[in-house]
Amino acid sequence: MYEREIFRDLLERLRAAGELDDVRDPVDSRHIATLVDQADKALLFHRVVGYDIPVVSGLIRSSRRVAIGMGVERYADIEEKLTRAITTPIPPVYVETSATREITHVGDNVDLFNLPVPMSSILDGGPVITAGVTIVRDGDGLNAGIYRFLLKEKNLTGIDIVTPNNLRAIAQRAYAEGRPLPVSISIGTHLFEFMAAGYRAPMGVDEICIAGGLRGAPVPLSMCETIDVPYIAGAEIVLEAEILPTGWTWPEGRFGEFTRLMGGLHWNPLVRIKAISHRRDPIYYALHMPWEVTWLMIPTRWSQLRSAFKAAGVQVKDINVTLGGAGSWHVVISIRKQSGEGKNALMAALSVGDIKHAVVVDDDIDVYNGLDVEWAIATRVQGDRDVFVIPGARAKPLDPSLPVVPAGVGPTGAKVGIDATIPEGIPRERYERIAYAYADRAKYGSYKLDEKAVRAGDRKPTEKEVAELAARILELIAEKPLYYAEVIDAFSDAPQQAITRAFGKLHADEKLWQDPQGRMCVRGSRFAAVLPARG
Ligand SMILES: Cc1cc2nc3c(=O)[nH]c(=O)nc-3n(C[C@H](O)[C@H](O)[C@H](O)COP(=O)(O)O)c2cc1C
Repeated sequence: MYEREIFRDLLERLRAAGELDDVRDPVDSRHIATLVDQADKALLFHRVVGYDIPVVSGLIRSSRRVAIGMGVERYADIEEKLTRAITTPIPPVYVETSATREITHVGDNVDLFNLPVPMSSILDGGPVITAGVTIVRDGDGLNAGIYRFLLKEKNLTGIDIVTPNNLRAIAQRAYAEGRPLPVSISIGTHLFEFMAAGYRAPMGVDEICIAGGLRGAPVPLSMCETIDVPYIAGAEIVLEAEILPTGWTWPEGRFGEFTRLMGGLHWNPLVRIKAISHRRDPIYYALHMPWEVTWLMIPTRWSQLRSAFKAAGVQVKDINVTLGGAGSWHVVISIRKQSGEGKNALMAALSVGDIKHAVVVDDDIDVYNGLDVEWAIATRVQGDRDVFVIPGARAKPLDPSLPVVPAGVGPTGAKVGIDATIPEGIPRERYERIAYAYADRAKYGSYKLDEKAVRAGDRKPTEKEVAELAARILELIAEKPLYYAEVIDAFSDAPQQAITRAFGKLHADEKLWQDPQGRMCVRGSRFAAVLPARG
């Protein structure tokens, strides 16, 4: 069904679902970011003043839009789809050419300033290309990722690769050998390619094959004209470029980050753009920071976490990589726990990429309900036993809370695990939740007592009736201790006042006691609880 899916189909799908608005009035490209931020839909600006190319933004700024783009019912379904794509990748197919090549500018004709790249936030270093699926050769395969390119000259940009990812490692090799590194940058691809590129695959794993797995069909690629690297055939716009062997020496940014914060000044390499190709009527995709990154990243973390739990042999129910944790740093996991597995689950979770804080709960806790999770932490955790800190782990340079390190030094930071599962060796009744008596029978909205019950309940019981009832209650609990509600249930014909009076009589006659669970029993019987000795 998706084998022919291209960027335009994604726009059409969002439009049909009422998730994309067409803005036909003229817009100043400087105003686009804030307009998108205020809108509850993705926006397609058809008339951008000074440019021939429309701009679309906010395409995946909600879980619903990502689900629509990925062709699944619910956002949560992406996990299965992505996991399947990772385990059964499909290699790409090479096509001779594509609509992306309808117009090509090479050499001196390259002019990035013809592209309507919007500015974003007030501390930015300039307009930034945010949605380019960047392909580079890596051995026999390809490596794909998404990186920001800040416009500098009409054929020169920077590339933000401060994070220790695969492209950075590949670019470092090229730099050490003093050679430029050819890359293609496909802007306006389907979400399948975008999701796969955003997936942090291990070195040597070809993300284009994962994109094929997501499509269920090979990704069509076509060769660039000026470099020996393919681009995604059918993309709206493609830049053919080389990362220059300048090293991480050029100041760049600042950039708005997925953390919802402004990053500091970065030092990055330069990128020469050798050719620009595009459709006859291209649409420029301006990815809006930070939510379009966050919603895209979360499912990729699910897949990584799930395989770590599998390797650790932990039975996981649900995983919530939280929005508040910037879709990268916090995870709440519910497990079907066996002894000690709270800690094992945490070690597995903290081994995954950038996960910094992990909370593990039992499977009776809803990981998507912050109240529930906090309640588990409040009622199941002892800080000295259930919270552990691993100092000196690899950290993400974008974490603003890390100490300042010299340029070029990878920062390290702490990882924290909180085991909020019910601890081993604690009596289970400490975790019995309040469950209201008669919840199964008395329903608000349809509640009505029958006349007979009302009349019986209104009549004052005689002393004789109370004494008889007390004797029957005593007989019952002599056999087996019962909770108060169970006694009431056993005498369901007796009105409540008769029962409370019967219990009152048993108390007064000093016949009543309770067992260690709080059930009613006969005083002095073998069931009766004994007052613990005072220390
Ligand atoms: C919209 C978007 C923008 C991104 N920008 C950058 C960036 O500027 N620099 C960076 O290092 N990673 C960026 N990332 C994250 C990388 O694309 C991601 O970690 C990817 O898996 C890296 O692939 P690699 O390890 O193959 O290089 C961005 C992700 C998204 C979704």
